[in-house]
Amino acid sequence: MKIFKKLLVISAVMGAIGLAPVAFAQSNLPDLGKSKADVAKAAFKEDAKCTKCHDESENAPILSIYQTKHGVKGDARTPSCTSCHGQSDSHLAGDKTGKGRPAPDIVFKKGVYEKSSEDQRADQCLTCHKGTKRNNWAGSTHPVNDVVCNDCHKVHKPADPVLSKQTQTQVCFTCHRDVQADTKKNSTHPIDVKKVVCSDCHNPHGSSGPSMLKKNTLNETCYLCHAEKRGPLRFEHQPVVENCANCHTPHGSNITPLLKDRPPLLCDDCHDGPHGSKTPMGSNMGGVQSISKNLANGAALTANNQATGRACLNCHVMVHGSNSPAGGLFQR
Ligand code: HEC
Ligand code: HEC
Ligand code: HEC
Ligand code: HEC
Ligand code: HEC
Ligand code: HEC
Ligand code: HEC
Ligand code: HEC
Ligand code: HEC
Ligand code: HEC
Repeated sequence: MKIFKKLLVISAVMGAIGLAPVAFAQSNLPDLGKSKADVAKAAFKEDAKCTKCHDESENAPILSIYQTKHGVKGDARTPSCTSCHGQSDSHLAGDKTGKGRPAPDIVFKKGVYEKSSEDQRADQCLTCHKGTKRNNWAGSTHPVNDVVCNDCHKVHKPADPVLSKQTQTQVCFTCHRDVQADTKKNSTHPIDVKKVVCSDCHNPHGSSGPSMLKKNTLNETCYLCHAEKRGPLRFEHQPVVENCANCHTPHGSNITPLLKDRPPLLCDDCHDGPHGSKTPMGSNMGGVQSISKNLANGAALTANNQATGRACLNCHVMVHGSNSPAGGLFQR
């Protein structure tokens, strides 16, 4: 009972300092006759089944859940301990067999007890969080690889690190070391400085696009921020329209700006015919001299502008396509 009163105080304080959401549709309340205070009281009573033992004395923080959105007891949608951990009747009944106290129905993290299966843990959260951002959860890469909700979310912590731009990448990097290494390269998205974070491009709950990208295609995801690269342009460069990843890598590269390879090699992948014929060209057409020979308009190709520095980009500056009436060769 003592703890129950204390929790009501915590909740009142949270309301006062504005942590609790102000209001939600009255029609969501199960009993319209009840005030928010009554709802809160009933909810704390339900929790007291568990909090009479699991209180401030625990090693792991338990009651700090009341400082999160899962602890807003005036909100009838808010879970009780049992909404996540299950009714846990045998755990509550105690050690009847002399083999120790049975585990609660759902254990999220290995401790005294083994954790529940991935499916069980995810399903328990999905009872309230199906749909919206999790429309494509089933069959997506994380659950298929046994990564579920509480591998990323820390619900008992006052601030869940994965929800903040400042701390999110650390959570992802615990498993994605290779991506972390990429973000240390010469050219990167500003991920290290937290200006752009993983969830700006990915939906870690699954998506209908490739690589769990937020949008249906890779390019649509890039256009979220690089809208100027979206056409239509008078003269389009086919690989740009198809997929930005033909030339760019998203997380980091030692070739600026985020390029997969250095021009002219970048261009050679596709342009491997002689320069100046209608067949696209590349390094296998005999090097600088034959480029010069083949140039119809006599533009001077030197070792300097062809093979080093900006190479092909010295002349073909509008590599993403051009809107100029004379931009057919992306030279303006
Ligand atoms: C009578 C006391 C008591 C009550 C009531 C009780 N528990 Fe426990 N619970 C324990 C003990 C003892 C353990 C074993 C771990 C420990 O020593 O803390 C435990 C372990 C757990 C664990 C796993 C912790 C770990 O480290 O593996 C969870 C989760 C848990 N309880 C949840 C609940 C929930 C939810 C309720 C309410 C439905 C509840 N408990 C009610 C005594 C209790
Ligand atoms: C929103 C779902 C949710 C609610 C509500 C919830 N828990 Fe938990 N609980 C979890 C998850 C998830 C973990 C695993 C710890 C983690 O990953 O942060 C956990 C861990 C625990 C543990 C083990 C401690 C540890 O960190 O290993 C105990 C004990 C526990 N909860 C008791 C409770 C009690 C008591 C309540 C009610 C006051 C409660 N939980 C409410 C989801 C919930
Ligand atoms: C009984 C319903 C219920 C269950 C079960 C439940 N949640 Fe929630 N959850 C809520 C409600 C209600 C909110 C607050 C939503 C709001 O304010 O719009 C919420 C909010 C959240 C948020 C956002 C928190 C924030 O600060 O913005 C996360 C993340 C979350 N839940 C994860 C989980 C995870 C992980 C589990 C399982 C361990 C879980 N939830 C289980 C009802 C539930
Ligand atoms: C791989 C890490 C990861 C996993 C696994 C994960 N989440 Fe999240 N979750 C995030 C990140 C990052 C955000 C914040 C960015 C965003 O909203 O997309 C978030 C946001 C949320 C939110 C708040 C925003 C919203 O959708 O309303 C809820 C609720 C939530 N997750 C629930 C869940 C549930 C339930 C599961 C398991 C079925 C789950 N998450 C699994 C990383 C994860
Ligand atoms: C507990 C470990 C773990 C955490 C934490 C984690 N992931 Fe993953 N993730 C995996 C595994 C395992 C795979 C599948 C194998 C792989 O591609 O590395 C994966 C795959 C991915 C993929 C590739 C998807 C595809 O379909 O190709 C993306 C994108 C991703 N994770 C993003 C994230 C983001 C963003 C976060 C943080 C919000 C995150 N992950 C946190 C383990 C994790
Ligand atoms: C600017 C957008 C963007 C950001 C920010 C971003 N990604 Fe990606 N990510 C992508 C794209 C695009 C792909 C697919 C690349 C491809 O198909 O060539 C991808 C692929 C992945 C993959 C699967 C392939 C691989 O490289 O292993 C993982 C895992 C991944 N991202 C994790 C992360 C994590 C973790 C973060 C945050 C540190 C993050 N991403 C930030 C755009 C982004
Ligand atoms: C969430 C917004 C966002 C998304 C989505 C995004 N970017 Fe960026 N991008 C940025 C920001 C911010 C910069 C840094 C701009 C600056 O420093 O002026 C940047 C810079 C770049 C650069 C230049 C890097 C350098 O070293 O100068 C390239 C190339 C790039 N992005 C490509 C992409 C591609 C390809 C995609 C899709 C896979 C993408 N971006 C998606 C925000 C985004
Ligand atoms: C054919 C290869 C190629 C493709 C495909 C491509 N880019 Fe680029 N991108 C480059 C090169 C080369 C540069 C450097 C240009 C320079 O230095 O003048 C660059 C530079 C950039 C920059 C930084 C400078 C600027 O123009 O703002 C951004 C941002 C960018 N690309 C985004 C994208 C996006 C988004 C896509 C997909 C819609 C895309 N790129 C597709 C080759 C490509
Ligand atoms: C992924 C393949 C690919 C890459 C990489 C690529 N291109 Fe292209 N490029 C094409 C295709 C396909 C066309 C269209 C060819 C056609 O219409 O006959 C094209 C057309 C062109 C044209 C115009 C040709 C014309 O006749 O109008 C120029 C100039 C050009 N590319 C330059 C470059 C440069 C410079 C690079 C390197 C920065 C580059 N391309 C990288 C595939 C690529
Ligand atoms: C010194 C300027 C210059 C440089 C450097 C240059 N080009 Fe060109 N490029 C031109 C001119 C001028 C044309 C038009 C030739 C014509 O009409 O016959 C052209 C035409 C093209 C065409 C159109 C098809 C063709 O072969 O006529 C492609 C594709 C092309 N260049 C790709 C490249 C690539 C790839 C590189 C780098 C390996 C490169 N260019 C380097 C000036 C240059």
